[in-house]
Amino acid sequence: MCGIVGLVSKREVSKILLECIRKLEYRGYDSVGMVCCDGKDICTKKDIGKIDEVDKKVNFIELNGNMGLAHSRWSTHGRTTKENAHPHTDCTGDVSIVHNGIIENHLELKEELIKKGHKFSTETDTEVIAHLIEENYKGDLKDAVLAAVGKIEGSYGLGVVHKNHDEIVAARNESPLIVGIGDGENFICSDVPAILKYTRNVVYLGNEEVAVVTTDKVEFFDVNGEWVDKKVEKIDWDAEQAQKQGYKHFMLKEIFEQPRAISETINGRLDDSDILIKDEIGLSVDEIKKVKKIVIVACGTGWHAGLVGEFMIEELTRIPVEVEYASEFRYRNPIVDKTTIVIAISQSGETADTLAAMKEAKKKRAKVISIVNVKGSSIERESDSTVYTHSGPEIGVASTKAFTSQLVVLYLMTVYFGKVKGVLPQEQVRNRIRDLRRVPLQIQSILEDSDYIKECAELYYKRANALYLGRGINYPIALEGALKLKEVSYVHAEGYPAAEMKHGPIALIDKDMPVVFVATKDDRTYSKILGNIEETKSRGGIVIAIITKGDKGLKEKVDTNVHIPKNSYILTPLLSVVPLQLLAYYIADKRGCDIDKPRNLAKSVTVE
Ligand code: AGP
Repeated sequence: MCGIVGLVSKREVSKILLECIRKLEYRGYDSVGMVCCDGKDICTKKDIGKIDEVDKKVNFIELNGNMGLAHSRWSTHGRTTKENAHPHTDCTGDVSIVHNGIIENHLELKEELIKKGHKFSTETDTEVIAHLIEENYKGDLKDAVLAAVGKIEGSYGLGVVHKNHDEIVAARNESPLIVGIGDGENFICSDVPAILKYTRNVVYLGNEEVAVVTTDKVEFFDVNGEWVDKKVEKIDWDAEQAQKQGYKHFMLKEIFEQPRAISETINGRLDDSDILIKDEIGLSVDEIKKVKKIVIVACGTGWHAGLVGEFMIEELTRIPVEVEYASEFRYRNPIVDKTTIVIAISQSGETADTLAAMKEAKKKRAKVISIVNVKGSSIERESDSTVYTHSGPEIGVASTKAFTSQLVVLYLMTVYFGKVKGVLPQEQVRNRIRDLRRVPLQIQSILEDSDYIKECAELYYKRANALYLGRGINYPIALEGALKLKEVSYVHAEGYPAAEMKHGPIALIDKDMPVVFVATKDDRTYSKILGNIEETKSRGGIVIAIITKGDKGLKEKVDTNVHIPKNSYILTPLLSVVPLQLLAYYIADKRGCDIDKPRNLAKSVTVE
C-alpha cells in the first residue's frame, strides 16, 4: 500500500510533488522516489528511507519539468533497496512508472519479456509493467498502457510518463486512484489529503479504468479503450484538517478531535425521540424484520469495533451477530444468504481483505452495508449502502477517532434496528439518544486529564510487555488498548477476556508485568473483575485500572487508576478506550518512537 502522486502543470512540479507525497507517507515509508520530465529529459531521484531523510540526500526539487510522478513505498515484492524503490523504467529509460498494488502474474510475464530480450534491474513485480509498455509502444502512450494492463493480473494504481509525451497515463484496478482537477494543472493521487491544498474537485477512477491527464484536460477510458464519462465530485474536507495544527503528532491531534468527530458523526442523524438513518442504511422495515443474522467483517481496529457492535446489537435488538476477520471470512465459504446483513467496517475504505469479504458476501446474496470514513472509497462503492463516520481525515497510522466514530454508527444502527424490530420501546429509544448526546462532553473531560495519563506513562514506558484485560463489552477495548500500544511503541502487549487469564496467560504475571484492567462499574461483571485484579495482585503483578469516577474502593486497590465518567453500559467503550489511546501515545512518545509512521505498518492495507 504505497502512496502515488502525479502532476501535469504549467509550472515546475517537483516542489509540489514533494509536498503532496509527504501527505501520503502514512501509506508506506520504506523508500521514496520522483521522476520529472521537461519535454526533453526524464530525470529520476530515489532512495530508501523516509521522505525527509531521502530529500536531504537527493534534494528532489532539483528535478526540472512541468510533469512528474512521485511514490512512497511499502515493500511487498523485492527487498527495501534503492534499486527496488519506485519509479521503475523500461530498457530505454523513456518510460517511467509508479505503482501501488501487486502484479500476481509478474513471474510469467517477466520470463516472456526476458525471452524477448528485455533486461530487468529490480526484484519488484512492478518493473514488468514498464517493460510491457515498452513492448507495446508504437507512439501512443495510452494504447501501450492499455495493452500492458490487458496482460497483467492483480491490483494496480498506476502512473506512467514517457519522455516524448506531455501527459500522464493513469490506470486503476482494485488499488485506489483519484484524479484531481486543478486550475491549469491536473493531479493523480492515491488519497485526497495529498492534493487538498490545490484542489477539492476530484474524479474517482473505477476498476479497470484509465485516465489521460494533461495540463488542460483529463480523459477517461475503460481498459478496452472505450471513452468513459466520469463525474467530478467535491471533497468536504479542507487542507487544514489534514495538518497537525500544532500537535506533536497526528495521533495526539486525532485523539483530541474525538469530541468533534463524534458530534459530527451524530449530527443530523437523531432528534429527541428517533434515529434518522433509514435512508443511509437503505433497508426497508420489512427487510430489517426479516433479518436472521448480522455478520460484521473488518480488520484490525475495525474488527474490535465489530466486537463492540456485536454486544450492542445482540443486547438491544436480539439479532444474532457474528464478527469475522475479513481475511478469514473471504476464504471460508461462509454461511450467509439473502436473510443476512453483512456490515463491513473500514476507516480507509480500501482494505483489500475487507473488500474481498464483501464481494464474497454479495456473491451469496447478502445485503452489504459499509461503515467507512473515506468518501468515494472502493468499499463504499462496492456496498449496497454506506453509513459514513464523519471523523475527518485520519492520518496517524494508529486509528483512534475513526474507532470511536465507528462505535457511534454501530450504536445508531443498533437503536434504529431495536426500534424497528419493536424490541426497544419509545421511552428507551429516548434514553439511549440522551445517553449518546452526553458522550462528546464526557470524552472532553477525560482529555482534560491527559497530563495525569502522561505521568502514568512515565511510570511504565520502560516495560517490555503488558497485558490488557476486560470483561463483557470492555473485552474488545482491552484488545484495542493492547493493539494501540503494540502499534506505536513496539511493546509486546496482549488483550484477553479477564477470566481467560486462569487458563494460561496468568503464568506471564510477575513484578515486571503491567496489567491494564478496564474495570468500570456495571451490574454484570464488575464483581468478577475485582476478583481478577486480586488474582493479579497476589502474583505481584502491577495493576493499572480504568475505573468509573467515584469508585473509591477500587482506587485504593490498584497501583495506578484513571477514572472515566459514567454512562450506560453499552456506551462505556466510547469512554474507556480514550485513556488507553493516550497511554499508548505517551508511552510511545517517551520511548522516542515515530508515532505517526510506526515501523512495518501503513495506514491502509490495500494488498492481501
Ligand atoms: C489500527 O490502528 C490499524 N491502523 C489497523 O489495524 C487498521 O485498523 C486496519 O488495517 C483496518 O484498516 P481500515 O479500517 O482502514 O480498513
